[in-house]
Amino acid sequence: MTREEWLRLSAILGAGAMIPNELHAAFADGEIKRSDFGKDFLWGTATAAYQIEGAWNVDGKSPSVWDHMAHKRPGKIKTRENGDIACDFYHRYEQDIELMKKMGIPIFRFSLAWTRILPDGTGKVNQAGIDFYNKVIDKCIKEGVEPWITCYHWDLPQTLEDKGGWSNRDSIQWFEEFVDVSTKAFGDRVKNWMVFNEPMAFTMLGYMLGWHAPGKVNFKKFYKSVHHVTMSHGAGGRVIRKNVKNANVGTTFSCSSVETLKHNKANDKAVTRADVMINRLFVEPILGMGYPVKDLPALKHVIKHMQPGDEEKMKFDFDFIGVQNYTRIVVKSLLLVPMIGAINVAPKKLGHDITEMNWEVYPEGIYKVIKKFAAYPNIPKLIVTENGAAFKDELVNGEINDTKRVQFLKDYLGQVLKAKKEGVNLGGYFIWSFLDNFEWAEGYRPRFGIVGVDFATQQRIVKASGKWYSEFLAGK
Ligand code: NOJ
Repeated sequence: MTREEWLRLSAILGAGAMIPNELHAAFADGEIKRSDFGKDFLWGTATAAYQIEGAWNVDGKSPSVWDHMAHKRPGKIKTRENGDIACDFYHRYEQDIELMKKMGIPIFRFSLAWTRILPDGTGKVNQAGIDFYNKVIDKCIKEGVEPWITCYHWDLPQTLEDKGGWSNRDSIQWFEEFVDVSTKAFGDRVKNWMVFNEPMAFTMLGYMLGWHAPGKVNFKKFYKSVHHVTMSHGAGGRVIRKNVKNANVGTTFSCSSVETLKHNKANDKAVTRADVMINRLFVEPILGMGYPVKDLPALKHVIKHMQPGDEEKMKFDFDFIGVQNYTRIVVKSLLLVPMIGAINVAPKKLGHDITEMNWEVYPEGIYKVIKKFAAYPNIPKLIVTENGAAFKDELVNGEINDTKRVQFLKDYLGQVLKAKKEGVNLGGYFIWSFLDNFEWAEGYRPRFGIVGVDFATQQRIVKASGKWYSEFLAGK
C-alpha cells in the first residue's frame, strides 16, 4: 500500500491521517536523505576477519577455532565450505578499500585476526600479522576511509581453545594481552575501537548449542564463558583507554525485539526470560547493574563463577554501545526448553517477508531495540554497528538488481531515523556487509553484501544496493 492509498483508506474509515508504525518507514521511501540524520552522523559498512580475509595459514598465521572446526568437522558448516580463501581480502584489500572510497563510504569496520598477531595466542608477536593490518589501516587513511577496529569477532586461537578457550578464566588475561599488543601497534592511527562483537552469539552458539566454533555442547562451559567474556569487556576496554590517546571505545551486541503473539501470564514470562538471554545478559553487568538473575534464574550458574572483586571489574564506561539488529524474535512459553523455557514461533508464520537466513523482515524491530537500549540510564551513545539482509541475488547481464535489499535498508533506516528524531543519542549506522562473505555455519549461500563477490573469480560487482548507498551518501 502506498502513502496515498493509506490516506484515502483512512479517510474512508474515519481513522484520520494516523500512519501506523509498520508503514511509516515504507512511506519514507524516496524521502529519506542523509541530511535528515545530521552532519555528524557516521556512515559505514562492517566486516569480520574470518568472513573476508582468507589466507588462513599465510605469513605465520595459526589456525583459529573456525579454521580448526571447518577443517576437522566440515559437516558443521551446512555447505561444507570454509573461510580458507573467503573474499581473499588479505591479498585484495587495496582494491576493496579503493572501491569503498569510490562508493563514498566514510567508515570501514573490520576485525583483527588474533591468530595473525599472536599465533600462539599469547607470547611471541608475529610481525607479518602486524604489518598486514598496518597496510590496511594506512590504505584506509590514504583513501580517506576511517578505520574502525573490532578486537574480537569470534576467531579465538585454537591453541587457546585447547586450554579451555573462554571457559578458562585465564582467557581474561589472554584477551588483555591481545588487546594490549593490538592497541600499541595501531592505536596511533586508529581511534575507534570495539572490544567484542556479539558476545551472546559466540558464547551460546559456540559452547552451548555447538553450531559455531568451537562446536561444544556444554552448559557448564557456556556459563563459565559468559562470565569470562563479560569480565573481558572491562579488561579490554581499560587496555584501550590506557594505550590509545583520545580513543572512542565501544562494544557491540546482537539485539532483537522479543515479542509474543498471544499475551498471557506464561507467554509474557517466556518473553522476559528470552529477552534476558537475547538482549540483557551482557550489557547489564557491564553497565554496573549485575547479571539479570531475577528475571532468568538459570543465571545463578553464571554467578557462581564470580570471584571477589569481579562485580566492580565487570563495569566499564563505554563511550558507545553498538546495537546490531536484523529481525524480531517471537516466542511462546515451553517450560521443557532448558534454561529459557520458551520456543520460537516459526518466522514464516508471522506473515512478513523472510530472508535467506529464515529471519523475518521487521523494520519496526530496529526502532524497538534502539529505544530499549536508549532507556538504560548510563549508555552515553548508541551506534547501529550492523544491519542488513541476505536475499537471493541474481546476476543478469553483469548486474545484481537486489531490489529487496534496497527496500530493506530504506525501511530499517526509516525506523532508525524515527528513533533519532525522538531524541535518542544515535551516532551512526553501518551496513552488514560491504562484501558477500563466509556466513559462518551457513557457508557462502546467504549473501549480505552491497557488493557482490563471484567466489570463483573473486570479481566484485557493486549491487543496486551498493549504488543506492553510494547515491544516498552523496546526498542524491
Ligand atoms: C552478526 C555477525 O556479527 C556477523 O558476523 C554475521 O555475518 C551477521 N550478523 C549476519 O548473520
